[in-house]
Formats: sequence, structure tokens, C-alpha cells
Amino acid sequence: MLASQAMQLNPLRFGTVEIDFPVVLAPMAGYTDSAMRTLCLEHGAGAVYSELTSAEGIRRDSEKTFQVLETTTNEHPIAGHIFGRDPEAMAEAAKYVEQTGLFDWVDLNCGCPVKKVVSRGAGAAMLKDLPLLGEIIEKVKAAVSIPVSVKTRIGFNNNTPGHLEIAKVVEQSGADMIAVHARLAKNFHGGDPDWDALGEMKQTLKIPVIGNGGINAPEEVTRMIESTGVDGVMIGRAAIGNPWIFKEVKACSSGFSRSVLERRDMMAEHVRRLVELNELKQTGSKGPHRYSPEEAACIQFRTHIPYYVRGLFDKKRLLMKLAQLMTVDAIMEEVDILVEKNT
Ligand SMILES: Cc1cc2nc3c(=O)[nH]c(=O)nc-3n(C[C@H](O)[C@H](O)[C@H](O)COP(=O)(O)O)c2cc1C
Repeated sequence: MLASQAMQLNPLRFGTVEIDFPVVLAPMAGYTDSAMRTLCLEHGAGAVYSELTSAEGIRRDSEKTFQVLETTTNEHPIAGHIFGRDPEAMAEAAKYVEQTGLFDWVDLNCGCPVKKVVSRGAGAAMLKDLPLLGEIIEKVKAAVSIPVSVKTRIGFNNNTPGHLEIAKVVEQSGADMIAVHARLAKNFHGGDPDWDALGEMKQTLKIPVIGNGGINAPEEVTRMIESTGVDGVMIGRAAIGNPWIFKEVKACSSGFSRSVLERRDMMAEHVRRLVELNELKQTGSKGPHRYSPEEAACIQFRTHIPYYVRGLFDKKRLLMKLAQLMTVDAIMEEVDILVEKNT
């Protein structure tokens, strides 16, 4: 471990929300369920976002949608992260998010570039229609008393409204905070993030700005804050299979000891939490269920395993077997074989 001093960051406040350590976990659909979120919070993440939840699904009373939004009572601060393109549906969904009493604020997704979302005119597609984006923010603000934030990009492509126009609309429509992924939507997650654009947005905005995109190591958090002036930083992919990253940022240190055994124990805990979540989910729903809670957990955990075993010798054997591993014991048996080879 490198000797270091603790990182001093000012708490980030907007409305009733106070994020003591403003380095937060990014929403990542399919990864950031309650199991990952609680692990990251326990390792220092300042806040988390719910899974991406469809406003239309909430409106239709879809059981599947409510399951996506599920959270545990010990996750705070947490945003209910919703998407949609209909201002009324978004306002209704935001109201629902508030009424659950489980969320500290509501966040509007205006950056998702995935075809399924964009083809419906939602997510990043709203960056092509700023009057609509403004109307959604205004309607949502009027519908709830908890704070409202927007997670967005620096633009859709080079021919659509630019980052400063987006910033202006978001702020003037009443959003309390903005989180900006510093890439165009057309670039998905590839290419260098444009921190200059992020810095320009920060300079023009009075509301707090969380910067996102391109944080792969703890020291890059300081670099982003110093070069853009943002009030907080959001970490996505670098936190998958790596909840320790928040502790490292806090300690201003990379190279934290993360022994193979620590990774093993974190994996055991992560999959245990997934089983627990699936048990809860199935207890509260009608069924029939295609998979038992344990099987469902093992399937969900498959996407995390490659990240936990990054860099380990002979991980290929485990990765090739993943599809067959349908019990926690079977997963952990294979993990233990890998641990033995790497200690
Ligand atoms: C698998 C995956 C799922 C994502 N899902 C969402 C989402 O549901 N909502 C959202 O606003 N952004 C989503 N993102 C984008 C991230 O929140 C983040 O903006 C992006 O990964 C850039 O940050 P990073 O470089 O730290 O990973 C997702 C990204 C990934 C890789």
C-alpha cells in the first residue's frame, strides 16, 4: 500500500440531499443492484443510483419494473433513476419514487445511448429535443418535493445541441444537480472523455456538477476535480468487481492491498447478497419462477465474476465454466481452485 493522506473533498449538497464524500457510484443497468450498491456504500461510495427504471413501466403497474427499482432500507443516499419521454409519465413515476420513501432524490436519465431506449425517444434522444427535456424536468420538479437531478452527456452527436445549451436548459428548468458523462452519446463508452467540455459546463452552472467518464484509477478523481472544478465525481466501470476503489479514493492511494483471498471473500459476500435479494423478490411476487433464488443469483453474478478475477493467473478455466455454475457452492469451489493457483 502506498503511504498517503486522506482526500479532503467538500460535501455535496443539493436540496435536502447531503453527500458527505462526493465520489459516487454510477448507475449501470444490470450491475448496480442492491448487492453491488451496498458493497460500494460500505466501502466509501458517497451515494448510489437505483437501476434504470422505466417511467412507463411504473405507470403500467408492472411488477417487473417495481422489482428493478427495488432497494433495501440501508442504502443512502440513493437516487431513484428513471427514464422515459412522456412528461406526464415521468412526473407520475417521480411521484411514485418519492412515495416509496426509500429514495433521497429522483434522477432523470438523459444520456442512455442504448437503441432500445433511444428508439423510444428517451435517454440520450432527449439531447436532440431540449424543449422536451426542459418540459420533463419542469413537470417532474412540480410533482415532487424531493430534489431532482439529471444524468446526461455532453451531447448526442456533433450536429445536435452542444454541452452549454444542455447545461442551460437543465438548470433553467429547475434541476437541483447534474451529473455529466463527458462523452457524446454517439460514442457510447469509447474514446477519450472530453473533460474540457465538462469544465466549461461547470463554469456556467450554479447547480452542483458531478463529473463522470474516464476514471480508471483513484488518482484520476483528483485530476478530474483539479482540471474541471466539478463538485463531485462518479465512477462506473472501474467499480465493477472493485468496491475497494472508493476506499482508495478516500485514502488518496492506489495499490491498496487487495489480496486474492480478499477478492474471494468479497465474491462470496456479493453472491450471498444476491441470493438474499432474490429470495426477497420471489417471496413478494406471484411466480411461477423459472429459477430458484440461488440459481437467479448465480446467473446475475456471472457478469461480475470476470471483473473480480481480473489479472489472475489461469482465470480462463473459471470463466469458461460460468454457464454451468448454478449453485453458490459450485461457484465458490471453482473460485477456490483459482485462489489456490494464485497464492
Ligand atoms: C453496463 C453499463 C450500464 C450502464 N447503465 C446506465 C444506466 O442505466 N443509466 C445511466 O445513466 N448510465 C448508465 N451507464 C453509464 C454509466 O453510468 C457511466 O456514465 C459510464 O460508464 C461512464 O463512466 P465510467 O467511465 O466511469 O464507466 C452504464 C454503463 C455501463 C458500462
